Amino acid sequence: MVSCGALHSFLFEYDTPRIVLIRSRKVGLINRGVQLAILAYVIGWVFLWEKGYQETDSVVSSVITKVKGVMLTNTTTLGATVWDVADYVIPPQEENTVFVMTNVILTLNQRQGRCPELPDDKTECKVKNNCVPGYVSTHSNGIQTGECVPYNSSIKTCEVFAWCPVEDDYHIPKPAFLQEAENFTILVKNNIWYPKFNFSKRNILPTINSTYLKNCIYDSQTDPFCPIFRLGKIVEAAGQNFQEMAVEGGVMALQIKWDCNLDRAASHCVPKYSFRRLDNKDSAHTVSPGYNFRPWCSPLPILPLLFHPLLCFLLA
Ligand SMILES: *[C@@H]1O[C@H](CO)[C@@H](O)[C@H](O)[C@H]1NC(C)=O
Ligand SMILES: *[C@@H]1O[C@H](CO)[C@@H](O)[C@H](O)[C@H]1NC(C)=O
Ligand SMILES: *[C@@H]1O[C@H](CO)[C@@H](O)[C@H](O)[C@H]1NC(C)=O
Ligand SMILES: *[C@@H]1O[C@H](CO)[C@@H](O)[C@H](O)[C@H]1NC(C)=O
Ligand SMILES: *[C@@H]1O[C@H](CO)[C@@H](O)[C@H](O)[C@H]1NC(C)=O
Repeated sequence: MVSCGALHSFLFEYDTPRIVLIRSRKVGLINRGVQLAILAYVIGWVFLWEKGYQETDSVVSSVITKVKGVMLTNTTTLGATVWDVADYVIPPQEENTVFVMTNVILTLNQRQGRCPELPDDKTECKVKNNCVPGYVSTHSNGIQTGECVPYNSSIKTCEVFAWCPVEDDYHIPKPAFLQEAENFTILVKNNIWYPKFNFSKRNILPTINSTYLKNCIYDSQTDPFCPIFRLGKIVEAAGQNFQEMAVEGGVMALQIKWDCNLDRAASHCVPKYSFRRLDNKDSAHTVSPGYNFRPWCSPLPILPLLFHPLLCFLLA
């Protein structure tokens, strides 16, 4: 219930704000100062610096790569062998990444049969009783037959039924078998499209002609827009040593940054390349370092240990 007095004052009263004019230099200056500060914030920071008036868009992008380089190895086991792109890039074409083989463990002439297992604390044996017929663990190369046979002149290991001889990954070739991969080059083709602005561009800039493209190698100082990179340089730019990394492999990222202000001419929209190593190489990560796999497609059962430049692209 509304009291009579309250209703009366609500209906029959009128109020208005009163303007006070203060003729004071100090108050006037403070007032203008506050107005100026707000104006400076809106125009200077929000508009000019943060570009609050602009629209932004995320980018649609594709990356394709082409590796080039040949090398010759001449070893007692393989003889003189030429390695070209088809041999060391596996698989031939991948989306946004490329895999380059830099080291190989060769296990020649494998066939199914019986042979000694690699020695470790589970497989070393003195007498037949140490070995269990049918035993197999996740690290086994085959299935134990129950015999204890000489591995070399000093130790004996349990015999396995396996692809023999079993692969010995204790001894990794050092320096890396394909150490000359340092000088291989990779051509990176990156196309981008901002759907909202219908703006597209590629990293082979309109100013680049085919003569230049045939001969250039990326260099942050002299050729910052050349899309051809030397593998050794990619690793070096990330502060790593290629020959060291080539032994056990690693994962490299090549970042292509397009930070474009489309208020300016399209020629100002250029890519910026940066490099980093993604797998950890410090002393805290010594267990299972690098990157490796066994290619099933190879006619020889081999284990390459890889250098794997992964192409990431962050586009702003
Ligand atoms: C490979 O090495 C052997 C012995 O060192 C040599 O006779 C042969 O010419 C070499 N082959 C090539 C293609 O260099
Ligand atoms: C036998 O193999 C073991 C393990 O690989 C090694 O430590 C040892 O030196 C080898 N002995 C000979 C005589 O090769
Ligand atoms: C790469 O090429 C340079 C110059 O051509 C050469 O000096 C260097 O030995 C090469 N690196 C390897 C690992 O072959
Ligand atoms: C987008 O741009 C291309 C070429 O710049 C033009 O041919 C096409 O018509 C444009 N599409 C739209 C929807 O504006
Ligand atoms: C190609 O570009 C290079 C450097 O940008 C320039 O020196 C050369 O004259 C150009 N060649 C042609 C055929 O335009």
